[in-house]
Amino acid sequence: MAHAEDLKRRAAAHAVEYVKDGMRLGLGTGSTARHFVELLAEKVYAGLKVIGVPTSEQTLAQAVELGVPIGTLDEVGELDLCVDGADEVGPGLALVKGGGGALLREKIVARAAKEMVVIADHTKKVDVLGRFPLPIEIVDFGATSIARSLEEAIRSAGCSGELRPRRDRDGHPFITDHGHVLLDAHLGRIPDPAALARAISEVPGVVEHGLFLGLASRAVLAGADGVLVIDRQA
Ligand code: A5P
Repeated sequence: MAHAEDLKRRAAAHAVEYVKDGMRLGLGTGSTARHFVELLAEKVYAGLKVIGVPTSEQTLAQAVELGVPIGTLDEVGELDLCVDGADEVGPGLALVKGGGGALLREKIVARAAKEMVVIADHTKKVDVLGRFPLPIEIVDFGATSIARSLEEAIRSAGCSGELRPRRDRDGHPFITDHGHVLLDAHLGRIPDPAALARAISEVPGVVEHGLFLGLASRAVLAGADGVLVIDRQA
């Protein structure tokens, strides 16, 4: 069986072929996006001209280290293509993202792109979203009260489960690139992602959530037998 890292690299290698000279790119975050940035850097070294907007400080550091030209979203403006990983890829290319904590910038960058291509190994494809805990980025003022309101919102959207504060490796609250904290909603199943997204967004103090709906136009999923490309139906 092919190793998970090989599959991620294969998906990234497929997507890097979509990159054309002069493109303005959103650069995703996570272990799969990392492969993409590495492969992109090889092309840049060979003469390809692109400019990338990183979706996290982590990706920014990698791009700088590998010599991929970068700019801020405000400098670069509309993007031609954003390539990013996902924690789950569901029907209609609805995604759960944010396992690495970069969901806010990832969503802003994906929305600024004409096309978003998701790269992943085939195990990320699911029939129903929710097995992977849904990240919710909140301000740290009144976090307990925000969590209570979120529990109600989650119930109102037909889901149930526990909200757990994300911790870093040292056991401290995980702080995002934008200085917020994260709650992970362990829901198991999300029968109606659009209803849940609406309900969560209505809670004051929520900055963003990891449901990416209507953003991805294509998924590139690598399996042992090859690469499966799924396009979102218009
Ligand atoms: C980062 O915040 C995430 O949205 C990642 O894109 C997602 O967690 C996928 O990461 P991997 O490619 O490491 O599985």
